[in-house]
Amino acid sequence: MLPREEFAHLPTPVEGLPHLSKLLGGPELLIKRDDQTGLAFGGNKTRKLEYLLGEARAKGATRLLTTGAAQSNHCRQTAAAAARSGLDCTLVLVGPQPSRPSANYFLDQLLGAEIIWTDRETRDLTLEQACREAEENGAVPYLIPYGGSNALGAYAYFSAYQELRDQMAGELPDWIVFASSSGGTQTGLFLGSVLLSGPRVLGISVDEPAAILQGKIAGITRDLSALIKQPVEFDVDDILVNDAYTGEGYGIMNDRDREAIHLFAETEGVLLDPVYTGRAAGGLLDLIRRGFFNRDQRVLFWHTGGTPGLFADRYLAHI
Ligand SMILES: Cc1ncc(COP(=O)(O)O)c(C=O)c1O
Repeated sequence: MLPREEFAHLPTPVEGLPHLSKLLGGPELLIKRDDQTGLAFGGNKTRKLEYLLGEARAKGATRLLTTGAAQSNHCRQTAAAAARSGLDCTLVLVGPQPSRPSANYFLDQLLGAEIIWTDRETRDLTLEQACREAEENGAVPYLIPYGGSNALGAYAYFSAYQELRDQMAGELPDWIVFASSSGGTQTGLFLGSVLLSGPRVLGISVDEPAAILQGKIAGITRDLSALIKQPVEFDVDDILVNDAYTGEGYGIMNDRDREAIHLFAETEGVLLDPVYTGRAAGGLLDLIRRGFFNRDQRVLFWHTGGTPGLFADRYLAHI
C-alpha cells in the first residue's frame, strides 16, 4: 500500500449527457465528474496529490514546491493541499506576471502560497534554487514534478480506472476520452486498460505533439509498472494520443474550444475550462462528427477539472 493522504471526494459521479448525445445523433455520451474531486474547486490533481502528499509526509516534508503556468490548476491545487496539510508552499509560475491576480493565480495567493515568477527557460533552475533556499532556511522541501506527473501521481489514475470499473460494472463504456498534457492522467488510465480489461483510452493532447506525449507516457508507465510490481508489455503506439486539436498552442483559445464550452454549458449545464477540458471536448465533438466512434458505442468524457480558469481575465473576454 502506498502512503496516501485521503482528501478527495471519491468515487466521483458518472452521469449521462442525454441532450448532447441526442443533438449529435449518438454515440451515447457519459461524463465522469473529476471536476468534483474536492480540494479548492476540484480537478484531476486532487487524486494525484493524495499520493504525492502521502510521500511528502512520509519524508517529513515541511514545504511543497512545484511549478506551472500562470493559470496552473496543478499549482492552485498544490497550494490547497499544502494549506490543508499544514505545510508551506512555493509555486514557481511561468510569467509574464498578469497585471492583476485573477482565477487560479488569485486563488494561489488566497491559499497562502509563496509565488516566484520566472520564464520558461529559467523555470527548472528557479525551482531548484527555491528548493535549495528552503533547505538553507531550515525547511524540508518536497518537490512535486510538473503536473504531478510521475509514477506516484499516475498511480492515482490507475486507481481511478479501477474506480470506474467498479462503478460501472456490467455497463462499461467503450471509450474514455479526456485532456492530456503532462501525461500522468493518461499513464494511469492507460496502464489500467492494459492490466485490467475495460474501455479504450484516448488522450486529446492539449499542447504536445503526439510522439512527444506518447514518449513521456511510456516512460511514466514503465516507472509505474515498477512501482506496483506489475510487469507490463506494450507498444508506444498502443498509447492513443490525438494531437489534431492543439491549435495555436497552450492556453490560446480557438473557435473549437469555445464551441465545446458553450455546448456543454447550454445543453447539459456542465462547465468546462478554457485550456484543457474545453479543448478535449472540442476534439471529442469533432471526432464524433467525423464518425470516429460507432453511433451505438458509449463514450465517457473524463472531466479533469480546471473550471476556475473560466474566470481568468485573459479568457473572460473570449468565451
Ligand atoms: C484541468 C486539467 N485537465 C487535464 C490536465 C492534464 O492532465 P495531465 O497533466 O495529467 O496530462 C491538466 C493538467 O494540468 C488540467 O489542469
